[in-house]
Amino acid sequence: MEIMVRTKTKTYPVILERGILGKASEYISRKGRVFLVSDDGVPETWRALLQRQYPGAHMHVFLHGEPSKNMDTLRRLLEDMAEHQVARNDTVVALGGGVVGDLAGFAASVYKRGISYVNIPTTTLSQIDSSIGGKTAVDLAGVKNLVGAFWQPDAVLVDTDVLATLPARHFSNGLAEAVKEGLTFDESLFEIFEKDDYPDHIDDIIYRCLMIKKGVVERDEREEGERKLLNFGHTIGHAYEASHGLAEYLHGECVGMGMLAIMDDPALKERLKAVLQRLNLPIRCDNDKEEVFRLLRNDKKASHDRITIVQVDEIGKGYLKEVEIDSLREKLI
Ligand SMILES: NC(=O)c1ccc[n+]([C@@H]2O[C@H](COP(=O)([O-])OP(=O)(O)OC[C@H]3O[C@@H](n4cnc5c(N)ncnc54)[C@H](O)[C@@H]3O)[C@@H](O)[C@H]2O)c1
Ligand SMILES: [Zn+2]
Repeated sequence: MEIMVRTKTKTYPVILERGILGKASEYISRKGRVFLVSDDGVPETWRALLQRQYPGAHMHVFLHGEPSKNMDTLRRLLEDMAEHQVARNDTVVALGGGVVGDLAGFAASVYKRGISYVNIPTTTLSQIDSSIGGKTAVDLAGVKNLVGAFWQPDAVLVDTDVLATLPARHFSNGLAEAVKEGLTFDESLFEIFEKDDYPDHIDDIIYRCLMIKKGVVERDEREEGERKLLNFGHTIGHAYEASHGLAEYLHGECVGMGMLAIMDDPALKERLKAVLQRLNLPIRCDNDKEEVFRLLRNDKKASHDRITIVQVDEIGKGYLKEVEIDSLREKLI
Protein backbone atom coordinates (compact mmCIF):
# COMPACT_ATOMS: atom_id res chain seq x y z
CA MET A 1 0.00 0.00 0.00
CA GLU A 2 1.38 3.38 -0.92
CA ILE A 3 0.42 6.65 0.76
CA MET A 4 1.73 9.87 -0.79
CA VAL A 5 2.46 12.61 1.73
CA ARG A 6 2.34 16.05 0.14
CA THR A 7 3.95 18.77 2.20
CA LYS A 8 5.06 22.25 1.14
CA THR A 9 8.70 21.16 1.22
CA LYS A 10 8.42 17.66 -0.25
CA THR A 11 6.12 14.98 -1.62
CA TYR A 12 7.12 11.46 -0.65
CA PRO A 13 5.72 7.94 -0.51
CA VAL A 14 5.09 5.91 2.62
CA ILE A 15 5.03 2.30 1.49
CA LEU A 16 3.41 -0.22 3.78
CA GLU A 17 4.29 -3.73 2.68
CA ARG A 18 5.30 -6.89 4.51
CA GLY A 19 8.79 -7.98 3.43
CA ILE A 20 9.76 -4.60 1.95
CA LEU A 21 12.93 -4.41 4.06
CA GLY A 22 14.37 -7.27 1.97
CA LYS A 23 14.04 -5.19 -1.20
CA ALA A 24 14.45 -1.71 0.24
CA SER A 25 17.18 -0.78 -2.25
CA GLU A 26 14.60 -0.93 -5.07
CA TYR A 27 12.77 1.97 -3.43
CA ILE A 28 15.78 4.10 -2.49
CA SER A 29 17.16 6.57 -4.99
CA ARG A 30 20.29 5.39 -6.75
CA LYS A 31 21.51 8.92 -7.42
CA GLY A 32 24.43 8.71 -4.95
CA ARG A 33 25.71 6.33 -2.30
CA VAL A 34 23.90 5.38 0.90
CA PHE A 35 25.03 5.84 4.49
CA LEU A 36 23.19 3.40 6.76
CA VAL A 37 22.32 4.24 10.37
CA SER A 38 20.93 1.92 13.04
CA ASP A 39 21.31 1.09 16.73
CA ASP A 40 22.55 -2.05 18.46
CA GLY A 41 19.07 -2.94 19.72
CA VAL A 42 17.78 -3.53 16.19
CA PRO A 43 18.29 -7.26 15.67
CA GLU A 44 21.25 -8.24 13.52
CA THR A 45 18.87 -10.12 11.15
CA TRP A 46 17.22 -6.86 10.09
CA ARG A 47 20.44 -4.89 9.87
CA ALA A 48 22.07 -7.64 7.77
CA LEU A 49 19.03 -7.80 5.49
CA LEU A 50 19.51 -4.14 4.62
CA GLN A 51 23.29 -4.26 4.48
CA ARG A 52 23.29 -7.21 2.07
CA GLN A 53 21.63 -4.97 -0.48
CA TYR A 54 24.51 -2.50 -0.28
CA PRO A 55 27.78 -4.43 -0.36
CA GLY A 56 30.56 -2.16 0.86
CA ALA A 57 28.26 0.50 2.31
CA HIS A 58 29.02 1.64 5.83
CA MET A 59 26.51 1.20 8.64
CA HIS A 60 26.88 3.51 11.64
CA VAL A 61 25.51 1.70 14.71
CA PHE A 62 25.13 3.51 18.03
CA LEU A 63 24.06 2.36 21.49
CA HIS A 64 20.28 1.85 21.64
CA GLY A 65 17.92 3.75 23.93
CA GLU A 66 16.60 7.24 24.62
CA PRO A 67 19.76 8.32 26.54
CA SER A 68 21.60 8.05 23.18
CA LYS A 69 19.35 10.68 21.60
CA ASN A 70 21.79 13.45 22.42
CA MET A 71 24.36 15.85 20.97
CA ASP A 72 27.29 13.46 21.57
CA THR A 73 25.73 10.69 19.50
CA LEU A 74 24.79 13.25 16.86
CA ARG A 75 28.34 14.60 16.72
CA ARG A 76 29.83 11.10 16.39
CA LEU A 77 27.35 10.29 13.65
CA LEU A 78 28.16 13.48 11.74
CA GLU A 79 31.90 12.86 12.16
CA ASP A 80 31.48 9.33 10.83
CA MET A 81 29.57 10.71 7.84
CA ALA A 82 32.42 13.15 7.19
CA GLU A 83 35.01 10.39 7.57
CA HIS A 84 33.16 8.32 5.00
CA GLN A 85 33.00 11.34 2.73
CA VAL A 86 29.23 11.36 2.49
CA ALA A 87 28.44 13.72 -0.37
CA ARG A 88 25.56 16.13 -0.93
CA ASN A 89 23.72 13.75 -3.28
CA ASP A 90 24.10 10.72 -0.97
CA THR A 91 21.24 9.37 1.13
CA VAL A 92 21.11 8.59 4.83
CA VAL A 93 19.02 5.47 5.46
CA ALA A 94 17.69 5.08 9.00
CA LEU A 95 16.80 1.57 10.17
CA GLY A 96 15.33 1.49 13.67
CA GLY A 97 12.85 3.00 16.06
CA GLY A 98 12.08 6.63 16.76
CA VAL A 99 15.49 7.24 18.29
CA VAL A 100 17.32 6.20 15.11
CA GLY A 101 14.85 8.08 12.91
CA ASP A 102 15.05 11.28 14.96
CA LEU A 103 18.86 11.23 15.13
CA ALA A 104 19.56 10.17 11.55
CA GLY A 105 16.92 12.57 10.23
CA PHE A 106 18.39 15.46 12.20
CA ALA A 107 21.92 14.55 11.03
CA ALA A 108 20.67 14.49 7.43
CA SER A 109 19.01 17.89 7.92
CA VAL A 110 22.21 19.65 8.99
CA TYR A 111 24.96 17.71 7.16
CA LYS A 112 26.11 19.87 4.25
CA ARG A 113 23.03 22.01 4.98
CA GLY A 114 20.73 19.08 4.31
CA ILE A 115 20.90 15.80 2.39
CA SER A 116 18.31 13.13 1.58
CA TYR A 117 17.17 10.52 4.00
CA VAL A 118 14.97 7.49 3.90
CA ASN A 119 13.33 6.13 7.01
CA ILE A 120 12.75 2.42 7.64
CA PRO A 121 10.94 2.37 11.01
CA THR A 122 11.14 -0.90 12.95
CA THR A 123 9.03 -0.28 16.07
CA THR A 124 5.28 0.20 16.40
CA LEU A 125 5.89 3.73 17.67
CA SER A 126 8.00 4.72 14.70
CA GLN A 127 5.75 2.97 12.16
CA ILE A 128 2.63 4.57 13.59
CA ASP A 129 3.88 8.00 14.42
CA SER A 130 7.45 9.25 14.28
CA SER A 131 8.47 8.14 10.79
CA ILE A 132 6.27 10.62 8.95
CA GLY A 133 5.81 14.30 9.47
CA GLY A 134 9.41 15.44 9.29
CA LYS A 135 10.07 16.18 12.95
CA THR A 136 13.66 15.32 13.87
CA ALA A 137 15.48 16.13 17.09
CA VAL A 138 17.79 15.26 19.95
CA ASP A 139 17.32 15.80 23.68
CA LEU A 140 19.38 18.43 25.48
CA ALA A 141 19.70 19.65 29.07
CA GLY A 142 17.16 17.06 30.18
CA VAL A 143 14.53 18.44 27.81
CA LYS A 144 13.09 16.13 25.15
CA ASN A 145 13.59 17.15 21.55
CA LEU A 146 15.01 20.54 22.50
CA VAL A 147 17.19 20.80 19.39
CA GLY A 148 15.89 19.68 16.04
CA ALA A 149 14.55 20.50 12.62
CA PHE A 150 11.64 19.88 10.32
CA TRP A 151 13.17 17.68 7.63
CA GLN A 152 10.95 15.48 5.49
CA PRO A 153 12.25 12.08 4.35
CA ASP A 154 12.48 11.07 0.67
CA ALA A 155 10.56 7.88 1.42
CA VAL A 156 9.33 5.81 4.37
CA LEU A 157 9.32 2.00 4.09
CA VAL A 158 7.11 0.26 6.64
CA ASP A 159 7.57 -3.50 7.01
CA THR A 160 5.41 -4.94 9.79
CA ASP A 161 7.29 -8.28 9.56
CA VAL A 162 10.11 -6.69 11.57
CA LEU A 163 7.75 -6.26 14.53
CA ALA A 164 8.04 -10.03 15.14
CA THR A 165 11.23 -9.43 17.15
CA LEU A 166 10.01 -6.36 19.02
CA PRO A 167 9.72 -6.95 22.78
CA ALA A 168 6.09 -6.90 24.00
CA ARG A 169 6.67 -3.78 26.09
CA HIS A 170 7.81 -1.81 23.03
CA PHE A 171 5.00 -3.26 20.91
CA SER A 172 2.44 -1.85 23.37
CA ASN A 173 4.35 1.37 23.86
CA GLY A 174 3.86 2.38 20.23
CA LEU A 175 0.21 1.43 20.28
CA ALA A 176 -0.39 4.15 22.87
CA GLU A 177 0.05 6.61 19.98
CA ALA A 178 -2.56 4.69 17.96
CA VAL A 179 -4.97 4.88 20.91
CA LYS A 180 -4.29 8.62 20.95
CA GLU A 181 -5.14 8.93 17.24
CA GLY A 182 -8.34 6.97 17.83
CA LEU A 183 -9.35 9.22 20.71
CA THR A 184 -8.65 12.43 18.85
CA PHE A 185 -9.65 11.53 15.28
CA ASP A 186 -11.31 8.14 14.77
CA GLU A 187 -13.71 6.42 17.12
CA SER A 188 -13.67 3.12 15.19
CA LEU A 189 -9.87 2.97 15.53
CA PHE A 190 -10.23 3.34 19.31
CA GLU A 191 -12.87 0.60 19.32
CA ILE A 192 -10.42 -1.90 17.77
CA PHE A 193 -8.52 -1.70 21.05
CA GLU A 194 -11.70 -2.14 23.09
CA LYS A 195 -13.22 -5.04 21.19
CA ASP A 196 -10.75 -6.86 19.02
CA ASP A 197 -7.66 -8.95 19.33
CA TYR A 198 -5.63 -5.92 18.29
CA PRO A 199 -2.33 -7.67 17.33
CA ASP A 200 -4.26 -9.38 14.52
CA HIS A 201 -5.15 -5.93 13.18
CA ILE A 202 -1.70 -4.40 13.35
CA ASP A 203 -1.40 -3.66 9.60
CA ASP A 204 -4.81 -1.99 9.57
CA ILE A 205 -4.02 -0.01 12.74
CA ILE A 206 -0.74 1.29 11.29
CA TYR A 207 -2.36 2.13 7.95
CA ARG A 208 -5.16 4.09 9.61
CA CYS A 209 -2.74 5.99 11.82
CA LEU A 210 -0.53 6.86 8.85
CA MET A 211 -3.57 8.12 6.93
CA ILE A 212 -4.63 10.30 9.87
CA LYS A 213 -1.14 11.70 10.31
CA LYS A 214 -0.69 12.26 6.57
CA GLY A 215 -3.81 14.41 6.48
CA VAL A 216 -2.82 16.41 9.52
CA VAL A 217 0.77 16.98 8.37
CA GLU A 218 -0.39 18.03 4.90
CA ARG A 219 -2.81 20.58 6.33
CA ASP A 220 -0.47 21.87 9.04
CA GLU A 221 3.18 20.86 8.50
CA ARG A 222 4.62 23.33 11.04
CA GLU A 223 2.20 22.61 13.87
CA GLU A 224 0.53 25.98 13.87
CA GLY A 225 -2.95 24.57 14.44
CA GLU A 226 -4.49 21.16 13.80
CA ARG A 227 -1.19 19.22 14.17
CA LYS A 228 -1.22 20.22 17.84
CA LEU A 229 -4.05 17.68 18.26
CA LEU A 230 -1.43 14.93 17.86
CA ASN A 231 0.00 16.13 21.17
CA PHE A 232 -2.98 14.81 23.12
CA GLY A 233 -1.63 13.45 26.41
CA HIS A 234 1.83 14.83 25.70
CA THR A 235 1.79 17.92 27.95
CA ILE A 236 1.56 15.83 31.09
CA GLY A 237 3.19 12.81 29.39
CA HIS A 238 6.42 14.70 28.69
CA ALA A 239 6.57 15.80 32.33
CA TYR A 240 6.21 12.17 33.49
CA GLU A 241 8.92 11.23 31.03
CA ALA A 242 11.28 13.94 32.30
CA SER A 243 10.57 13.18 35.95
CA HIS A 244 11.82 9.65 35.41
CA GLY A 245 15.06 10.79 33.84
CA LEU A 246 14.00 10.05 30.26
CA ALA A 247 14.66 6.38 30.85
CA GLU A 248 12.43 4.50 33.26
CA TYR A 249 9.14 4.89 31.41
CA LEU A 250 8.85 4.82 27.65
CA HIS A 251 7.37 7.66 25.60
CA GLY A 252 4.10 5.90 24.76
CA GLU A 253 3.65 4.71 28.33
CA CYS A 254 3.90 8.31 29.54
CA VAL A 255 1.52 9.50 26.81
CA GLY A 256 -1.01 6.88 27.95
CA MET A 257 -0.84 8.17 31.53
CA GLY A 258 -0.87 11.76 30.25
CA MET A 259 -4.11 11.14 28.32
CA LEU A 260 -5.70 9.48 31.32
CA ALA A 261 -4.72 12.39 33.56
CA ILE A 262 -5.92 15.18 31.30
CA MET A 263 -9.36 13.80 30.38
CA ASP A 264 -12.32 15.24 32.27
CA ASP A 265 -15.16 12.86 31.46
CA PRO A 266 -15.23 10.02 34.04
CA ALA A 267 -16.88 7.52 31.67
CA LEU A 268 -14.29 8.15 28.95
CA LYS A 269 -11.53 7.86 31.51
CA GLU A 270 -12.84 4.39 32.41
CA ARG A 271 -12.91 3.34 28.76
CA LEU A 272 -9.34 4.57 28.25
CA LYS A 273 -8.17 2.91 31.46
CA ALA A 274 -9.59 -0.43 30.27
CA VAL A 275 -7.84 -0.07 26.90
CA LEU A 276 -4.49 0.81 28.51
CA GLN A 277 -4.84 -2.23 30.74
CA ARG A 278 -5.62 -4.48 27.77
CA LEU A 279 -2.41 -3.18 26.20
CA ASN A 280 -0.45 -3.78 29.43
CA LEU A 281 0.34 -0.08 29.59
CA PRO A 282 0.72 1.59 32.99
CA ILE A 283 -2.20 3.59 34.37
CA ARG A 284 -0.21 5.23 37.14
CA CYS A 285 3.42 5.69 38.11
CA ASP A 286 5.27 6.57 41.29
CA ASN A 287 5.99 10.24 41.12
CA ASP A 288 6.34 13.42 43.07
CA LYS A 289 3.42 15.51 41.79
CA GLU A 290 5.07 18.83 42.65
CA GLU A 291 8.17 17.80 40.70
CA VAL A 292 6.06 16.68 37.72
CA PHE A 293 4.16 19.97 37.81
CA ARG A 294 7.41 21.96 37.96
CA LEU A 295 8.73 20.05 34.92
CA LEU A 296 5.47 20.61 33.09
CA ARG A 297 5.65 24.33 33.71
CA ASN A 298 9.33 24.46 32.65
CA ASP A 299 8.69 22.41 29.53
CA LYS A 300 5.98 24.81 28.41
CA LYS A 301 8.18 27.80 29.29
CA ALA A 302 4.95 29.09 30.72
CA SER A 303 5.71 32.73 31.38
CA HIS A 304 1.99 33.38 31.53
CA ASP A 305 -0.62 31.41 33.42
CA ARG A 306 -2.56 29.84 30.59
CA ILE A 307 -1.60 27.13 28.11
CA THR A 308 -3.30 25.36 25.23
CA ILE A 309 -3.94 21.68 25.77
CA VAL A 310 -5.73 19.01 23.75
CA GLN A 311 -8.95 17.71 25.25
CA VAL A 312 -11.32 14.90 24.31
CA ASP A 313 -14.93 14.83 25.58
CA GLU A 314 -16.24 12.66 22.77
CA ILE A 315 -14.18 9.87 21.22
CA GLY A 316 -12.79 10.80 17.82
CA LYS A 317 -13.20 14.52 18.41
CA GLY A 318 -10.10 16.06 19.96
CA TYR A 319 -10.02 19.83 20.28
CA LEU A 320 -7.70 22.56 21.53
CA LYS A 321 -8.55 24.30 24.77
CA GLU A 322 -6.85 27.06 26.72
CA VAL A 323 -6.62 26.36 30.43
CA GLU A 324 -5.02 27.80 33.54
CA ILE A 325 -1.72 26.00 33.90
CA ASP A 326 -2.40 25.63 37.64
CA SER A 327 -5.53 23.62 36.85
CA LEU A 328 -3.28 20.82 35.58
CA ARG A 329 -1.71 20.31 39.00
CA GLU A 330 -4.81 18.66 40.42
CA LYS A 331 -5.17 16.45 37.34
CA LEU A 332 -1.85 14.70 37.84
CA ILE A 333 -2.09 10.99 38.69
N1 LIG B 1 9.75 12.61 15.22
C1 LIG B 1 8.54 12.43 15.70
O1 LIG B 1 7.55 12.93 15.16
C2 LIG B 1 8.36 11.58 16.92
C3 LIG B 1 7.06 11.20 17.32
C4 LIG B 1 6.93 10.36 18.41
C5 LIG B 1 8.07 9.92 19.09
N2 LIG B 1 9.31 10.32 18.68
C6 LIG B 1 10.52 9.85 19.37
O2 LIG B 1 10.67 8.46 19.15
C7 LIG B 1 11.48 7.93 20.21
C8 LIG B 1 10.90 6.61 20.66
O3 LIG B 1 10.90 5.70 19.60
P1 LIG B 1 10.74 4.14 19.85
O4 LIG B 1 9.66 3.89 20.80
O5 LIG B 1 10.71 3.53 18.51
O6 LIG B 1 12.06 3.77 20.66
P2 LIG B 1 13.51 3.27 20.23
O7 LIG B 1 13.93 3.84 18.94
O8 LIG B 1 14.38 3.47 21.41
O9 LIG B 1 13.29 1.69 20.01
C9 LIG B 1 12.94 0.88 21.10
C10 LIG B 1 13.92 -0.28 21.30
O10 LIG B 1 13.61 -1.31 20.38
C11 LIG B 1 14.77 -1.71 19.65
N3 LIG B 1 14.27 -2.16 18.36
C12 LIG B 1 13.97 -1.39 17.29
N4 LIG B 1 13.39 -2.15 16.34
C13 LIG B 1 13.35 -3.41 16.81
C14 LIG B 1 12.85 -4.65 16.29
N5 LIG B 1 12.24 -4.70 15.10
N6 LIG B 1 12.97 -5.76 17.06
C15 LIG B 1 13.55 -5.69 18.29
N7 LIG B 1 14.00 -4.57 18.85
C16 LIG B 1 13.90 -3.44 18.10
C17 LIG B 1 15.63 -0.49 19.66
O11 LIG B 1 16.98 -0.83 19.46
C18 LIG B 1 15.38 0.06 21.05
O12 LIG B 1 16.17 -0.60 21.98
C19 LIG B 1 11.50 8.97 21.30
O13 LIG B 1 12.77 9.57 21.32
C20 LIG B 1 10.44 9.98 20.87
O14 LIG B 1 10.74 11.29 21.30
C21 LIG B 1 9.46 11.13 17.61
ZN1 LIG C 1 4.27 10.94 21.00
